[in-house]
Amino acid sequence: MRRPFRSLIVAAAAAALVLPLCTVTAANATPPGLSDADRSALRNQAPIDLAVGSAVWGRQQLMDYDPGAPTEYQQVLGAQFSSVTPENDMKWDAIHPAPDVYDFSSADALVAYARANHQQVRGHTLLWHSQNPAWVTEASATWTCDDARAVLEDHIRTVVGHFKGEIYEWDVANEIFQDTWDAGGVRLRTDRNPFLKACADDPVALLVDAFRWAHEADPDAVLFLNDYNAEGVNAKTDAYYSLAQEMLAAGAPLGGFGAQGHLSLLYGFDTSLQANFERFAALGLQVAVTEADVRIPLLEGETGPTPRQVATQAERYDAMLQACLNVTACSSFTVWGFPDANSWVPGVFPGEGWATILEDDYSPKPAFDAMLASLRDATPGVSPRR
Ligand code: XIL
Repeated sequence: MRRPFRSLIVAAAAAALVLPLCTVTAANATPPGLSDADRSALRNQAPIDLAVGSAVWGRQQLMDYDPGAPTEYQQVLGAQFSSVTPENDMKWDAIHPAPDVYDFSSADALVAYARANHQQVRGHTLLWHSQNPAWVTEASATWTCDDARAVLEDHIRTVVGHFKGEIYEWDVANEIFQDTWDAGGVRLRTDRNPFLKACADDPVALLVDAFRWAHEADPDAVLFLNDYNAEGVNAKTDAYYSLAQEMLAAGAPLGGFGAQGHLSLLYGFDTSLQANFERFAALGLQVAVTEADVRIPLLEGETGPTPRQVATQAERYDAMLQACLNVTACSSFTVWGFPDANSWVPGVFPGEGWATILEDDYSPKPAFDAMLASLRDATPGVSPRR
């Protein structure tokens, strides 16, 4: 299944720096100016109005970046992707470790890397119930809504302001709805999100203001709601759809809806993803697949997945990409890191793994090939979506 890949990386990275990314106009023609290396790069095959990204942990992978001597990982990241998302570097615990302390060091390294590699940056995330620093968790026990608002406003204005002009899409609010299986069912996380909890009397007013503060700090960034289990039309996305309407009616600068795309072969695939994207697009929003990975349950004693699992994984990645390609409002498709050695999956989902699109030696898995083929079919260099 493997084909030479690493030898192409350096050439592709170099080509990405000197070639305009879109030089071809005829759909389905062989791009005359593109070498084999370019044809092996997701970013060069994507429609011009679709960013193809990956999560990256700047603190672990980019602090030592030297444009003249990139690591192999850094070469692949630059050659393949036109967008990067900080997997952890812009979360509260990383960027705001103490009440009066902001630490932009690793996020700045990520932004500098992205600039050097002609990539866009997706900001992630400003309001979430997880990965908050201890000081937030402790202080929030006694917060009034005004206290919570003051802390959140300072954070959003400071962080979004720091990166003003550098970020094309911000996940302002992440995972703010519970799931059907949580106590109380699908409703805003006024139990676990410390900010929504303090403002539980009117959480939507807080959300509207959070988006407003972000917009004032960087008017060019498109501001997203983002969640898991938000691919298909379901109870959770119904709640998001209502919330989006309510926020827009209140004048919130809400600009996008993101489906994370964390899938597992333990479950089926909800083919209503495209219909879900279409209904949010009809509200005037952009949509995006923001954190795609497809976990595979690995049998005990087996070293890898079965051929059937490998094929199904490729189908799932491709199905998510197809839904995005088919909806012109889908502005970015991001995978949640690569290769498997860097993936969050093994640490968090025992018994599951092999979730990313590249092998640990950076050779492409069938999921990568399927995505590359779909991007190439959709457009050799120029988007037919416009
Ligand atoms: C994950 C990261 O990948 C891990 O490194 C970290 O330990 C926990 O968070 N949904 C999100 C992401 O919005 O921020 C999460 O990222 C994965 C689930």
